[in-house]
Amino acid sequence: KLLALRSVYKDYFDIGAAVNLTTIESQKELLTAHYNSVTAENDMKFESVHPSEEAYTFEAADKIADFAAANGMKLRGHTLVWHNQTPDWVFQNANGAPVDRETLLARMKSHIDTVVGRYKGIVYCWDVVNEVIEDKSGVWLRESKWLNLAGEDFIAKAFEYAHAADPKALLFYNDYNECNPEKRDKIIRLVQSLQAKQVPIHGIGLQGHWNLNGPSLAEIREAIERYAATGLKLQVTELDISVFDHDDKRTDLTEPTADLLERQAERYGEIFELFREYKEAITAVTFWGAADDYTWLDNFPVRGRKNWPFVFDAKHEPKASFGKITDWQ
Ligand code: XIL
Repeated sequence: KLLALRSVYKDYFDIGAAVNLTTIESQKELLTAHYNSVTAENDMKFESVHPSEEAYTFEAADKIADFAAANGMKLRGHTLVWHNQTPDWVFQNANGAPVDRETLLARMKSHIDTVVGRYKGIVYCWDVVNEVIEDKSGVWLRESKWLNLAGEDFIAKAFEYAHAADPKALLFYNDYNECNPEKRDKIIRLVQSLQAKQVPIHGIGLQGHWNLNGPSLAEIREAIERYAATGLKLQVTELDISVFDHDDKRTDLTEPTADLLERQAERYGEIFELFREYKEAITAVTFWGAADDYTWLDNFPVRGRKNWPFVFDAKHEPKASFGKITDWQ
């Protein structure tokens, strides 16, 4: 009988999966067998739960919360403040003009109060602020309506509002390209500036959207070391390992080749070995999906391309990658 991922890792960290209303049905057996945590892939984002100023729509988010509760899984909240998947109304007034700082912060507060308040004691951990660090070298924060209209301290305020709404929830800053040395250092500078101001932040989310040849194991190790040195908890929040090299833009594969699957398995193996080494810092590893029948990487970033980034195949059978992350026991 197959070992359950969450049992293999019970002395290390939680094993999570991002889910949506389709996959909680189509992947139900797999999810309940192997994972002890879930994140809503889209259904707790601003545009999903708060499409207009007066309207909150929690049906989908509630179904995911119910799925987690019914199956004894933890629930991560994703995400409160982001430049994407946030409706335009947030940033403008009735005649379409940009809102002032006070109005935007008041809207942010009421969103956070309502959403965090609704899942108080249910969502144990929130990605409060997502992706505010700029990728481009030499530039500090990402241009966004949040930044342009409210100024840099919208970040600290988001954490303060979230903490007030649920003082027991763990509050995370979450970002991608997190192992790139320059971006990593900018992320650390941000969280340290928050810590210096006594802002309630408890963790750093490493998204982990990786591929076959990057980031290198050395870069991942260095990033974990440096993030852990902030004293904050770490979680890998959105792990997937594309079967393509970073510069491989082929669109003709309808099945992954044996060679790609082999290389992916080696990579999963070495990466989870590294995660185990840092079990004092890493409290959860969440995949951005569960099995290869559904991944957001289909068509992204290369249109017309299928991907196979998980440790279970499209039929929910374990891949060589599953073997490599469980065979150490
Ligand atoms: C992605 C979802 O997986 C897609 O379904 C959606 O179309 C776009 O967002 N970083 C994040 C996640 O923090 O919220 C993103 O999720 C993937 C990148």
